[in-house]
Amino acid sequence: MADAPLAIIDDGAIRWISVNRPDKLNALNQATLEALDAAFAGADADPQVRVVVLTGAGPKAFVAGADIAEMNGLTPVQGRDFSLLGQGLMRRIERLRKPVIAKINGFALGGGLELAMACHLRVAADTAKVGQPEINLGLIPGFGGSQRLLRLCGRAATLELCLLGTPISAQRARQLGIVNEVVAADQLDARVGELAAQLARSAPLALRGILDAVHVGGECALGEGLEYESAQFGLMFATEDMREGTSAFLARRPPVFQNR
Ligand code: COA
Repeated sequence: MADAPLAIIDDGAIRWISVNRPDKLNALNQATLEALDAAFAGADADPQVRVVVLTGAGPKAFVAGADIAEMNGLTPVQGRDFSLLGQGLMRRIERLRKPVIAKINGFALGGGLELAMACHLRVAADTAKVGQPEINLGLIPGFGGSQRLLRLCGRAATLELCLLGTPISAQRARQLGIVNEVVAADQLDARVGELAAQLARSAPLALRGILDAVHVGGECALGEGLEYESAQFGLMFATEDMREGTSAFLARRPPVFQNR
C-alpha cells in the first residue's frame, strides 16, 4: 500500500521496519506511532525474528520529528496523550526482548532522534543530521528526549542540543556518544546488514539477558544492578545455548544457537 505508514520486510531472522511517509520526511503522526507500536509488539512476539532494524523510507530522512501539522491543533490534554503515546512506543522499543538497530539514513530530529535513542544500537550515514529542535516550535521534547539524551551523553550536550535546537552532524553525534558508528551513506545498508546478521547468529537468550541487565542497571543503584547481573548470569546456565557456546569453543568449532 502506497500510503501505509510502515514498510515491513523479513530477511531470515532480521525484520526491517521502515517508517514510510517520505513526502513528510517520515514525520510521526498518531497513526504512524500506533502502527510502530503494533509492529514492535509483533516483532517481539514472533519467535522467527531475532533482530529488528528500524529506518526511514526515502533518501532524506530517518524521521524528521513528531508531525508538526498534527500537533498544531492539539489541546493540552491531547498534547499530553500524544506525548504518552510516543513515550509508550519508545519504552516498548527500549524494552524489546531482542536487539533493535536504528539505521539513521538522514534527518533524525525531535521525535526522530527520540525514536533512534530508544533503539539499542545506532548507525548513522555520514550525511545524517540529528537534533532536538522542538525549542524552535515553542515546545520541548515529548517522547523522552530530555531524559534519554541526558543518560546517553550527559548534561552539557543535552542542554546544548535542547536549548539551542541546532541539528548536529553525524560525526559530532558520534563524538558525543549519541550514535555508535558513522559510515559513508552508500555503505549504510551493508554495514547495518552485517551488524544485524551478527546479532541474528548470537544466542538470543543471552542477548536478552544483556538488554535486561543494562536496562535494570541504568535505573538502579550499582549494588542492585550487580545483584541482578549475577542472577541473569546464573540463569544462562539453564540454557542449551550456553552449553552449545562453551562446548563449541572447546571443540574449536562455530556455535549454532537455537534460542533454547
Ligand atoms: N512534521 C510534519 N511535516 C514535516 C515535518 C514534521 N516534523 N518535517 C518535515 N515535514 C514536511 C514538510 O512540511 C514538507 O511537507 P510539504 O511538502 O507538504 O510542505 C515535507 O515534509 C518536506 O519538508 P521540507 O521542510 O520541505 O524539507 P527541507 O529539506 O526543506 O527541510 C528539514 C528539511 C528537516 C530541515 C525541515 O523539514 C524541518 O525543519 N522539519 C521539522 C523538524 C522539526 O522541527 N522536528 C521536530 C518536531 S517536534
